Parts: sequence; C-alpha cells; structure tokens
Amino acid sequence: MTTIGIDLGTSAMKLLLVDGEGKVLRQVTREYPLSIPKPGWSEQRPEDWWEAVLSGIPELTAGGAAGDVRAIGLGGQMHGLVALDGQDRVIRPAILWNDGRTAQETAYLNQVIGRERLAQYTGNIAFAGFTAPKLLWMRDREPENFRSIAKIMLPKDYITYQLTGVHATDYSDASGTLLLDVKNRCWSREMCQICGISEDILPRLFPSAQAVGTLRPHVARRLGLSPDVLVCAGAGDNAAAAVGTGTVGAGRCNISLGTSGTIFIALDGFRADPNNALHAFAHADGGWHLMGCMLTAAGCNRWWMDGVSGDTDYAAEQARIPRERLGENRVFFLPYLMGERSPINDVDARGVFTGLSLDTTHADMTQAVLEGVAFAIRDSLEVARSLGIGIRRSGICGGGAKSPLWREILANVLGIPLDMAVTEQGPGYGGAILAMVAAGAFPSVREASLSLAGTASTTWPDEKLISLYDRRYAMFREIYPAMRQVFRSFAQA
Ligand code: XUL
Repeated sequence: MTTIGIDLGTSAMKLLLVDGEGKVLRQVTREYPLSIPKPGWSEQRPEDWWEAVLSGIPELTAGGAAGDVRAIGLGGQMHGLVALDGQDRVIRPAILWNDGRTAQETAYLNQVIGRERLAQYTGNIAFAGFTAPKLLWMRDREPENFRSIAKIMLPKDYITYQLTGVHATDYSDASGTLLLDVKNRCWSREMCQICGISEDILPRLFPSAQAVGTLRPHVARRLGLSPDVLVCAGAGDNAAAAVGTGTVGAGRCNISLGTSGTIFIALDGFRADPNNALHAFAHADGGWHLMGCMLTAAGCNRWWMDGVSGDTDYAAEQARIPRERLGENRVFFLPYLMGERSPINDVDARGVFTGLSLDTTHADMTQAVLEGVAFAIRDSLEVARSLGIGIRRSGICGGGAKSPLWREILANVLGIPLDMAVTEQGPGYGGAILAMVAAGAFPSVREASLSLAGTASTTWPDEKLISLYDRRYAMFREIYPAMRQVFRSFAQA
C-alpha cells in the first residue's frame, strides 16, 4: 500500500508518494502565484491549489502506481481565510497567514475585547495573520462578500472539501483561527459572537488522522484513483511537519525553515505562554504544542538571492562565505520583510541591513540574511527558555534546512544540535504518515511518527562559535527596539 502526503505551501505544493515502510517513492512540485495587491498583503487563489492537485496527483502516480494508493493526508499553510458561498464557490482570493492588512482589527481584538478575554476563550491573543481578524476585516471592508459567506475553512480544508465534498478541519489547524477553544478542542461560541458569525459556517472538527471521507467519484476518475481512497483531516503545516520529523510526545522540538520559520515544542497537556508571544495550539498527535512563528525565514534568502541579487545558485553563493567569518560578521539583517509575528507581533516592522561599511562584501550580506533569520528564531527559543522549557536538541526541516551552512549557523546561534530529517519535506511526509494511520497501518500518530521519521544527519554546535554568536545575538537584540518608532512613522507616511 502507499499513501499520498500533500504539503500545501506558500511558494508551491509538494506532493509525496510514500510506501508502507515510509520510503518516499516519488515527489512532485507544483508552483502557483502569490499575489501582493498592496505592500504587506498576501493572497492566493484556492482554485490554483486545486489545479495543482488535479495535475500533481496523476503525475505522482503515473506508471501504474495509482492502484496501490490507500489514503491521502494534507499539511497546509495555516490561518488563511478561504470563504465559500452557498454553492461552495470561492468568494474572494484567500487571505494568507503572512498578510498584515488587519492591524486595526488585531488591535481591536487585543485592546477592546482584550488579551485576557481572548486568551481565556482561545488560549491565544490576536495576531494579524490569524483568521478571526480577517473575518472582521471582511465584515467591515467587504460587507457584500461577508454576507455571502456560507462556509469558511483553512487552505488545506479547501482541498479536502474538493476531494471528498466534506467541510472539515482538524484541531491543529483550527487552533490558528482564534475561533477555537484550544484547551477544550471545540469552537468558541464567544469568539463566533465577537466576529459576527454563526457556528454553522465553521467546518466540522476532526482529529488529524481520522478519515473525513473518501474521494468523490468524479474526482477519483479525474485523478485516476479508486473512489475508496480515504482522505484524513490532516494538519496545519507545522503540526504535520512535527509528525513528519518525529516531533511527537512532550519535550521534542522541531524547527521549520520554509517561507516562514517556526520553532515547534510538543507538549502533553495544554499550556499557554503567559505573555502569549508563543502560540498555544493543538498538536496532530493528540497533544498540544507551543510555537513561535517568524513570517519570513527561507523567504528572506529567496528574496535576497532571486529578487535582489538575481542569483539562483544558492550553494555557490554560500560557498563564498569564508568559514572564519562565522560569528564575526559586522553586518546585521533584521528579517521582517512582511512585518513580524513571534515574538514581537508588529505588522509595521520591516527588513533592515545595518553595519554596512565600504569593505562590506556581497557575501557578508548573504551571511547576514542567514544569521538574521537564525537570530529571529532564537528570539522565540528564548521565550520558551524563559518559561522554564529546556530544549536540548531539535529536529529541522523545510527548504532552508537543505543548506549545511544555514544549519551550522542555526545550531551555533541556538546552541543546540540539530537533527536533519531524512526528508526535508516535513509537512508532506507528515501528511503521508497521518494518512497511514487513517488507513489502519499504525495504531496511533505517535507510533507511526516515531517508527517512520528518521534522522539523516546531526549538526553539532561548537563551543567557540556558540560564544561568538552569543555576542552577535546580543547586538542583534538592540536593532529592533531602536527601529520600532521609525517603523511606526514610516507605516503612517
Ligand atoms: C504558523 C504560520 C506559518 C504558516 C506557513 O503559525 O503562520 O508557519 O503555516 O505555512
């Protein structure tokens, strides 16, 4: 038997065909556009995601592999608002997780409704990328669209709906809506009232590895699969990546270096950060997790390389960074190209290079980009440490994790060893594992994850580099507070 794991990412969809032993047999990638209608806004067309599935699955299963497929599991970019009308048609482009248009609505939720009440109802406070502020934005700025909403869902749930006809979501992804009572794993009636919606428009909640249905016959025909193929509820991409990297059960940690950068700390019981700088969400393994999310991680390197330098040979560019410059760079980069979520929660923050001088090289700036992302991830790790959570090592996945240099910088900035997963495709692999559990191949998500997810290599930190990077991190920490007011007044200009 095989399963299909789908990672509905922001830059592309990655589809994996995985056999019963957990071996990735084939992989297909489909890119789709990201639209930035205004600075800080971010949208995608759900129809483009569906097109990627319709063309991606037949390619993945070409050559006779379709008959063995038993189940499909998705991991998807979180928080995005997909709104459907009474005929299940998409009302407007999805507003994504890294969209910062809801500064006003977020401030209303945190200040007028109040952080304490939000935390009491949901376990979290409002961040601009979360789904609830987007609903308020639509209610006030697009009342006609808002009135025609019959169902809302998260990005991967739109694909689940197209595959099965069922409006479903799972607890991990629902956690990022700010509409879920995360601790009690049910929709929050209070939050529905605050957002002016009826609970009927929300999808049905499922555990991640539970099958929500089978393929609709016409979809099965189109994909060349059996109509008996199961589709499980899946998970938000970070929880799916955690499953795909063995980050299940209390105390385990995973870092994802994708378009976003996250640090994911698995917990057995619900626990919130008293300052709510870290998100308190449900895990796909039946437990919970704390998570710090930076909005632009590998996205910073992509912007710097493809967008600014016009250079697509990332490895060659990184090879130009002399090893003896690690921990010695005088150039710093603040990686807030789309504003920032954890831990500063500032939609107005922007990217900054500082420390430039006449002898600065292009390689110094490339290094500063990689280091700036590592420092920003450390910001979230420090919040976890301040809560008394000791993290002695972490898994790592995502496109950025393929770079040995970036892993080395990160291991030394964080001061912990990093275990590189066998496949860097964490969410897709996690989706395939969830599908195996749905198909009955394993009794639980934890057992499946621990027996299938393996480590390809470990990057160990070095005492000397740790202390050099500690000094650099202290310098990095001075930049944002010094810039905060500038960001504010630039945003108003
Ligand atoms: C997590 C988050 C991002 C997206 C990216 O809170 O917003 O990691 O899920 O895909």
